[in-house]
Amino acid sequence: MCTKRLNIVVAACKNNGIGVNGSIPWRLKKDMAMFRHITSDTVDESKQNAVIMGRKTWMSIPDKFRPLKNRVNIILSNTLSESPDGTYIVKNFQQALSLVNSDKMKQQIESVHIIGGSSVYKEAMESDYDCRVYLTKVDADFECDTFLPPIEESLFQRVKNPSNIPSDVQEENGIQFTYEIYDKTTDQSDRESPVSR
Ligand SMILES: NC(=O)c1ccc[n+]([C@@H]2O[C@H](COP(=O)([O-])OP(=O)(O)OC[C@H]3O[C@@H](n4cnc5c(N)ncnc54)[C@H](OP(=O)(O)O)[C@@H]3O)[C@@H](O)[C@H]2O)c1
Repeated sequence: MCTKRLNIVVAACKNNGIGVNGSIPWRLKKDMAMFRHITSDTVDESKQNAVIMGRKTWMSIPDKFRPLKNRVNIILSNTLSESPDGTYIVKNFQQALSLVNSDKMKQQIESVHIIGGSSVYKEAMESDYDCRVYLTKVDADFECDTFLPPIEESLFQRVKNPSNIPSDVQEENGIQFTYEIYDKTTDQSDRESPVSR
């Protein structure tokens, strides 16, 4: 594989908040299951997807769930001196992409998912790569200290959800949320029909 597209997977509430005090301010089991499904499923069963994350996102994952199973875990950090078991540490975003495109890894990896936090999302959205944002829009207010950078309207178009991602409003614990998908393509001929925002 030579990475053609970066898949950003994120849940944000009304103020575009994604986190507070090192964790996610809401608990939505259905959304966690969707996260697992988007980041883990592969067409080729012999391959895995890669998840690229910042150190604080890594630390926010409970011990018993990390490394995220059946995925190649790549952590961006300049302070971690050793890779936690079952992970790769890289020093910058370019190194992460070089790793997934290396001869060894490209045979094993099907697709690449960017799973936070803030600056990693920004770098992926602003990169020269095609980019798909899987956004869970949480229709509620939460106090947050970490935010999703804007999905620039001039670059990203909302597209129709594939059949495996519901388009209607979801609800759990009295919180409503919806799944939205935005694409940025570098090749105009690849563009799908836009959906109005
Ligand atoms: N709602 C969601 O979908 C979602 C998703 C992910 C995370 N979150 C939440 O967001 C918060 C964590 O995100 P965050 O933005 O604060 O931190 P983060 O991006 O996860 O981690 C920041 C750290 O990652 C490393 N890093 C990030 N970008 C780098 C780069 N380009 N090159 C080298 N190193 C880089 C640095 O580590 P060193 O300091 O070690 O060098 C930096 O201090 C938590 O509250 C988490 O629960 C929410």
